[in-house]
Amino acid sequence: MPTSEGLELSAEKRDAVWRELVRVIEGYIADVDSLRVTPPLDPDALRKELAAKSFATPMDAVEAVRYAADSLTNSQVHTPHAMYYGLFNPAPTFMGIAADALVAAFNPQLAAWSHSPFAAEVERHLIQQFGIRFGLSADSIDGTFCSGGAEANHTALLTALTDKLPAYQEAGTAGLPGQPTLYITADSHDSVRKAARVSGIGKRAIRVVPTDARYRMDLVALSRMIQSDREEGKIPFLVVATAGTTGSGAVDPLHEIADIAWTEGLWFHVDAAWGGGAAFSPTLRKAIAGVERADSITFDAHKWLSVPMGAGVYITRHPKILTRTFETVNPYMPRDASGLDIVDPFSHSLQWSRRAIGMKVFLSMLVAGWDGYREAIEHQAAMGAYLRERLADAGWRVLNDTPMPLVCFVPANHTDPSDRASIDAIVQRVVRSGDAWVSSTVLGGKQAAIRACITKYRTQKADVDRLVEVLGA
Ligand SMILES: Cc1ncc(COP(=O)(O)O)c(C=O)c1O
Repeated sequence: MPTSEGLELSAEKRDAVWRELVRVIEGYIADVDSLRVTPPLDPDALRKELAAKSFATPMDAVEAVRYAADSLTNSQVHTPHAMYYGLFNPAPTFMGIAADALVAAFNPQLAAWSHSPFAAEVERHLIQQFGIRFGLSADSIDGTFCSGGAEANHTALLTALTDKLPAYQEAGTAGLPGQPTLYITADSHDSVRKAARVSGIGKRAIRVVPTDARYRMDLVALSRMIQSDREEGKIPFLVVATAGTTGSGAVDPLHEIADIAWTEGLWFHVDAAWGGGAAFSPTLRKAIAGVERADSITFDAHKWLSVPMGAGVYITRHPKILTRTFETVNPYMPRDASGLDIVDPFSHSLQWSRRAIGMKVFLSMLVAGWDGYREAIEHQAAMGAYLRERLADAGWRVLNDTPMPLVCFVPANHTDPSDRASIDAIVQRVVRSGDAWVSSTVLGGKQAAIRACITKYRTQKADVDRLVEVLGA
């Protein structure tokens, strides 16, 4: 028996594995709505079971696929389920699933352009197209695909540092005459804080700007904080606005923040990881007006574009900034494309060897087209509006105001904003029932709320009615 048999499998065995894969994937797509949304949470049981898989005796390939599929069925929150009203995790597009299989098989290596010209140019094309959708000028768009929004935000922080504080590249923060300082709100995604920590500028670099009654960045406070920080010798260099916050779908006042950033010489980053989907609909686009003035944008295709995880995009209006931030010269990477008008992704982004992230976005876009996505996104927004209405009718108090399909609410008699315990009790009842998944959050750092988001392009009014029923039970 050749030693690679367990790695490659015979043609006959591969055929059997493909059939089993198709059977379990099609079965999952057809039946996911009949499953419990949430799994039992028992780490000991899982570890005990896995401990028995010592790899001493090879398992049959078909049996292995079945085992993994059964285990996933029994032990995950089913984000593609109709009753999952969650954290921007979509039901994946079918073409996204197909593209991921294709990419796994062809295994294009996206470090060097010359290793995968087609996959690299697909990503360049998508970034160009998305940049135009966001309103950037076609002749200056650049960007990179990322693992997700967190990496895109991290990339934004690094490019802002490189652009505004060039000494940082050589000497780190020790080369700077003061504390580099950036501005977020309590509702910004925490990946920005994490990026500050791991990039070495530290948590002290973070200034949390208060929000207004709609959980949007307070402009007067932002200006005031920039002035007082300068007076203290700090170096303001970046403001991060969010277009569609994780908690409430709020959109910071982008035009006004752009004005302040431009006047003050700060890099203006817009985290549109989820809300960027609004750019695909002429009616929703106005909700994120001002995004076109950003120096850089985070957009997650694995959120509102519903491709399988992970697919983040960092887009910028500064064509040279990624190279200035990430360029590396070394003796071992391929030189096959020297002299051509290309960029090597390894010298243009945080990652090095990586898969062709953009392919699942490309195939989904090719097959659904702009119109398919517009319809899906507008349908989800309509379902969000319906959920808002139904919750109000059922006696819940809706707290947020956004055209995006995300609703935050509390029982009508919930009068103490800091009382998260009673909110968590409702959420836990729902989650433990296995009938639906919603979450809790704290808006603007002070208002506890239940949070439900339409994350699925398939969600119908009957699903929303069912959620209201489960919440009210
Ligand atoms: C507004 C926002 N930005 C960034 C992120 C991080 O994205 P990811 O989880 O894809 O890394 C999220 C995640 O939900 C988000 O909601």
